[in-house]
Amino acid sequence: MRRNVAIVVCLAALSGVADAFWRLPCRGRSGVARMDPLMASGKPSDHVHAVHGSGGFTMSSTEATLKKGNCTSCAVTQDKSAYWAPALYFMHENGDTELVNEVGGMLAYYFLNGENITAFPENFRMIAGDSFMRHFPWPIPDPPKSEWSGDDISQPALRQKALGFNCLNYNLDPEPSLGRHFMPNKTFMDEHCTDGIRFELMFPSCWNGKDADSNDHRSHIAYPSLVMDGECPEGFDTRLVSLFFETIWDTYAFKDKQGDFVLANGDPTGYGYHGDFIYGWENGYLQRAVDQCTDLSGRVEDCPVFDLQSEYDQGQCTFPVPEELKDEDVYLHKGGLPNNIAIEYGPAYASPVKYTTPGHAAPTPTATQPASKPGFSLGSSLDLASSSISSMLKLAPTPTTSLIQDVITEEIVYVDQEILLYMDTKGVPLETESGSQTTMSTATSTLTRVASAVVTTPTNPPMKRDRHSHIHGHRRHRFGHTH
Ligand SMILES: *[C@@H]1O[C@H](CO)[C@@H](O)[C@H](O)[C@H]1NC(C)=O
Ligand SMILES: *[C@@H]1O[C@H](CO)[C@@H](O)[C@H](O)[C@H]1NC(C)=O
Ligand SMILES: *[C@@H]1O[C@H](CO)[C@@H](O)[C@H](O)[C@H]1NC(C)=O
Repeated sequence: MRRNVAIVVCLAALSGVADAFWRLPCRGRSGVARMDPLMASGKPSDHVHAVHGSGGFTMSSTEATLKKGNCTSCAVTQDKSAYWAPALYFMHENGDTELVNEVGGMLAYYFLNGENITAFPENFRMIAGDSFMRHFPWPIPDPPKSEWSGDDISQPALRQKALGFNCLNYNLDPEPSLGRHFMPNKTFMDEHCTDGIRFELMFPSCWNGKDADSNDHRSHIAYPSLVMDGECPEGFDTRLVSLFFETIWDTYAFKDKQGDFVLANGDPTGYGYHGDFIYGWENGYLQRAVDQCTDLSGRVEDCPVFDLQSEYDQGQCTFPVPEELKDEDVYLHKGGLPNNIAIEYGPAYASPVKYTTPGHAAPTPTATQPASKPGFSLGSSLDLASSSISSMLKLAPTPTTSLIQDVITEEIVYVDQEILLYMDTKGVPLETESGSQTTMSTATSTLTRVASAVVTTPTNPPMKRDRHSHIHGHRRHRFGHTH
């Protein structure tokens, strides 16, 4: 029996070694701007991204326009893809934010994990991570992968486990990749991360085999059961080359300064880190690389199909910043993050985007967006300092959009539901439990004119009811729910 076990372990180790990959250096940064052709096509995006890849990057890039770019900030000249992720800021004590220095550009890893790997199809685009996440309701740290099952391998869990924040100290043994799924606090970074922090992001590599993109830019793809490896879920049987972003931020430069790190999307936790990709390899090249770049060294120099350019040339490639964003200082911003994105600590889901300036209008959903499900959103941030505080949170229903063809009557139902949030002694959320719903009030409105689109924003929360607001060991949340 014992010997069988040993053989299994040995085979597993061998097959792990056999996975080839290459590490594509993008030593240049093609730009830092509020641009995101996937989530905000044709207009400025909510938050600032650090962008690598094609010099043809614009607010409305497609594969075709990226390929027309005359340069790339990455090493392989046949690759005009675009790679982008939120930038990291340091918020000083006075509220001003300063862009943290990105060290050495980006490394875009292409892993050849799994069998029968295919290159990305034409016009392929995808997102990894979720900008609005502010908590991690699964065990911390990860249990050993061999023990993952059930909820551990759900797509939402795998998506959050695909984020890594690696504390760098080159004098010590390196931390494992994807070992920590949140940003360490500044005290910890000041003490331990003398070479900065490395953001890591694994993209899904299981594909439905037909859609190059989807409305949310993620439903056409899924994670394999072990994030980077393992089984693809049913319906996502095509194994793509696995894309992984790495960027290093010089957080240690702020060692003796008062303040805190925050991602450009208003996320100080790291749980809302995410990244975007638009495929832009010259026709057929990526598949050739997948088939031929099987050297285990990971060096692009060891693959004969790549044409390489110097680090200097990578550094020369930048995209033009659009006129409307030219005056925005993304390096130093007074009184908050660029675009005054509010900082949300969670653990509640941070959608929709909030701003620190009261007069700043939230973007209005448009008729072209698919009708979204009524969502929950909590009006104020929680502080995670203690597990014995309970607080009542303000109700802020999410606007919902629907396409209307004719006169309609709609009913808005406010319900009250108790959500128990269990936390460990450090205030880290472990799980939630929801109680029954009580209807608190209803309102109806009839539209008498024909409209093409209606944006519903329930404005008056129901009457406040007195509640016990101190419950030891858990918090009570109140949610608005619109029908
Ligand atoms: C690319 O084009 C821009 C103008 O569109 C130009 O400023 C830049 O020098 C060009 N870069 C290269 C590497 O040719
Ligand atoms: C890979 O392709 C071969 C040949 O088509 C097939 O026999 C094998 O089952 C495939 N493997 C997977 C994991 O799909
Ligand atoms: C910072 O993080 C460390 C490690 O997780 C923790 O021990 C410490 O209490 C935290 N400090 C603050 C001020 O939150």
